[in-house]
Amino acid sequence: MRVLLTRKLHEFAMKELKRRYDVYVHNGAIPMPKDKLLSKISQMDGLVCFPYDIIDKEIIESAKKLRVISTYSVGYDHIDLQKAKSRKIKIGYTPDVLTNATADLAVALLLDSMRRITEGDRIIREGNWKVVFGPHDYVGTDLEGKTIGILGMGRIGRAVAKRIHPFGMKTAYHSRNRLPKSEEKKLGAKYMSLDELFEKSDAITIHIPYTKDTHGIVNMNLLKKMKKTSHLINTSRGKIINEKDLIKILRSNRIAGAALDVFEREPIGKDHEFVKMKNIVLAPHIGSSTAETRREMAEITMRNLIYGLEGKKMVYSVDTD
Ligand code: DGY
Repeated sequence: MRVLLTRKLHEFAMKELKRRYDVYVHNGAIPMPKDKLLSKISQMDGLVCFPYDIIDKEIIESAKKLRVISTYSVGYDHIDLQKAKSRKIKIGYTPDVLTNATADLAVALLLDSMRRITEGDRIIREGNWKVVFGPHDYVGTDLEGKTIGILGMGRIGRAVAKRIHPFGMKTAYHSRNRLPKSEEKKLGAKYMSLDELFEKSDAITIHIPYTKDTHGIVNMNLLKKMKKTSHLINTSRGKIINEKDLIKILRSNRIAGAALDVFEREPIGKDHEFVKMKNIVLAPHIGSSTAETRREMAEITMRNLIYGLEGKKMVYSVDTD
């Protein structure tokens, strides 16, 4: 069988895949240019892709022999599920293994934004720390007693709730499906409507998937409801936030700050509006980027591909029904 990887995986996975299949690995520009992907995909039985590879209708239509797509990500918004389903292509993904790493990052960004760590680092590096320890210098916000608003109480949202509890923050959440009462009690989490969550929280952290329904839902309408002292954290998908609206809100200091790991278009360059702003912490899409997690993602991506191609149950498959 022939498989295409749009980028190299960890050595152990490459070795195993090469032992089993005729493997083609794209080594050039990232993402793999669409014309190249189109020219290769027609001969492939399996595809390993990444969250930036757009596996759209056209790609799937050209993939005449394709039986399995295995994405190295928990998100699968880059794959046309309907089209894949109509062709009976199985889709594997990598949830669970990246829950802790992503939740850790969300908390790190929350602390950074509330305590202005990156801003302070920048002040020192730019030679602007001139006066020692002033009563009003670089003041941030206590976490204790504040409310964290978790948008999306799936695996990662719940992992954030657990981590936040010891800081003494109150937890509020909004999710497509409300949790059972027992689960709410365990997490100490109070359900709120979307509007109420944005109005009442001292920080919002986003953990919903990107779909056509969540496209740009964090827009001016919601951002305007946030407290002036509140913070916005996003480790999910950039397109959930309307960036133009967020820029307006941050420019006019209508919220205290934002910390983003994901953006409408990635990578962002040094000329991006966000880069010019002080009240925002930026990270280069590193939610799952720990050595342990990335290795496990490679393992699952590899196994999903092998199991899918060999007619076994994948470790994690996207339910396309
Ligand atoms: C994912 O898995 O979807 C992340 O965005 C990348 O780790």
